Amino acid sequence: MRIDIVTLFPQMFDGLLGCSIIGRAREHGLVDTRIHDIRDYTHDKHHVVDDYPYGGGAGMVLKPEPIFETVEAVKTELGLASVPTILLSPQGRLFNQDIARELAAYQHLVFICGHYEGVDERVAEHLATDEISIGDYLLSGGEIAAMAVMDCIIRLLPGVLGSEASLAEDSHIGGFLEYPQYTRPPVYRDWATPSVLLSGDHAKIARWRRQQSLLRTAKRRPDLMEKTVLSPEDERLLNEAFEIS
Ligand code: ADE
Repeated sequence: MRIDIVTLFPQMFDGLLGCSIIGRAREHGLVDTRIHDIRDYTHDKHHVVDDYPYGGGAGMVLKPEPIFETVEAVKTELGLASVPTILLSPQGRLFNQDIARELAAYQHLVFICGHYEGVDERVAEHLATDEISIGDYLLSGGEIAAMAVMDCIIRLLPGVLGSEASLAEDSHIGGFLEYPQYTRPPVYRDWATPSVLLSGDHAKIARWRRQQSLLRTAKRRPDLMEKTVLSPEDERLLNEAFEIS
């Protein structure tokens, strides 16, 4: 997969692209990332990228021309007439794991990071093919949102994670939150690891984990619980968990 990022702050991506899973995925050639500075596509002496909003109001608005020209340069380089182009903005559809899977299927993606008070609406209407928000809160720009979305997508690409099992068991994949995890030492500051995890009884461990996963989801994310129909076995496990807790 190739990801092109259109931003006013290229340096913000340095850390993300060099470290951990994304750094490794890039080293192994599983994802190719390119950063484009919107300012490089201005034609005036002062490299102006923003202007006052028509109709008045506080703050500045990102001008359409340099953003259009940046994305058009990417398309020309790729030799493609169109490419999935995502504008990160609080007005977008709310990002989730299903959208991550949908985006992970593309060969190319372009992310446009907005800034200041907003982006000229013609970018959303005539350049972007999709608009995504990562949550109902206001960031100072789209870069952190683009990073969150990229991170989710890249870890789904074939070969990026060591074990496919760790993907399958992750929170949200099965519609439930993940069960609690423990590692050594067995007792830390008087806080013991649940004894079932040390029992070596794999069936019992699987049952406990499923129960914890259901209980957590029911307590912390009733909205997720409402979206699923529990099997009779899950129903029983959850009822038992509520009786114990
Ligand atoms: N830009 C500013 N806030 C944002 C958000 N919540 N999601 C995506 N892009 C944003």
